Amino acid sequence: MKILVTGGTGYIGSHTVVELQKEGFDVIIVDNLSNSYANVVDKIEQISGIRPIFEKFDLTDIEKTNDFFNRHSDLDGIIHFAAFKAVGESVNDPLMYYRNNIGSLVNILENMRIHKIANLVFSSSCTVYGQPEVLPVSEESPILMAMSPYGNTKQISEEIITDTSSVTNVKAILLRYFNPIGAHETALIGELPLGVPNNLVPFITQTAIGIREQLSVFGSDYNTPDGTAIRDYIHVVDLAQAHVVAVERMINNKGKKDVEIFNLGTGNGFSVLEVINSFEKVSGEKLNYKIVDRRAGDIEIVYADTTFANDELGWKAKKSLDEMMLSSWNWEKALAEKS
Ligand code: UFG
Repeated sequence: MKILVTGGTGYIGSHTVVELQKEGFDVIIVDNLSNSYANVVDKIEQISGIRPIFEKFDLTDIEKTNDFFNRHSDLDGIIHFAAFKAVGESVNDPLMYYRNNIGSLVNILENMRIHKIANLVFSSSCTVYGQPEVLPVSEESPILMAMSPYGNTKQISEEIITDTSSVTNVKAILLRYFNPIGAHETALIGELPLGVPNNLVPFITQTAIGIREQLSVFGSDYNTPDGTAIRDYIHVVDLAQAHVVAVERMINNKGKKDVEIFNLGTGNGFSVLEVINSFEKVSGEKLNYKIVDRRAGDIEIVYADTTFANDELGWKAKKSLDEMMLSSWNWEKALAEKS
């Protein structure tokens, strides 16, 4: 079985490639390396013992994309990760986000239609729910107006896939991720944020290792037990395994609808301070942090109802917060040793 993984040298993509290879899939990675490095392919090979095929080009380039699909029209499935993902950057340059995230998706769907490739697994986000009124948030929760162009590209992409599916051969599973963190147990692959990290966990580990001076905790006046915001953090390897299950479900025609949606989280919410405490416990490091004002656009609390994913996919996130934080810390230390 041959699977195309777009964005396969990226954070979630690389972990998914490893899990696919473990299950016996042949993987082709397409990535333009705009936010990742070619040597990730070597690391994947070191972990799995199998070198995935890698092609470097931009999926918004219609000619190159068509040429790729002409050579690989026998794909059994596509997992589409390739996208820009920085919320703040998308506010400053919305057209770059629409051109990249929407353009690449349209080019892929067009080729799926032409070459009769049926199965698409798409990276979506819990951002489509905004601040849900009912917690935990199930797949039936209403989609709220996007708070950023990035979030809007996820909403629009879900609609484009659904519209396309209703009139073509294309079937899809839309996976709405909560907050992916952690790294592979080998510490050979993990998250490689460019510049100053926006996300909490890379900021924590970079502060502890001495790259950043101090972590700012954004807000302690939320309506939560300790006043800091709550998220559903999920280990990237658990998340990666859900993609394998999703692609197998499609290939084996086990889907109940042409477009299915699953929340991928653990179902547990943790506050920013709980994440910091877990980090300090597993690393033995004291973290330098201070409480500052809320960050604009942040929501108070979100965590997943995972019942549907657990029951239908037969998948469940296994790793604890401590395991997530320890693997993130080991990855940061491995990066420091190399530099
Ligand atoms: N936080 C801090 N300090 C930091 C960074 C984050 O206190 O330096 C806090 C945030 O305020 C938030 C929590 O840590 O309460 C998690 O923040 P992240 O930036 O790690 O994650 P978000 O939940 O804000 O972002 C995630 C995804 C985005 C997605 C967004 C939608 O990373 O892709 O959810 O809410 F758009």
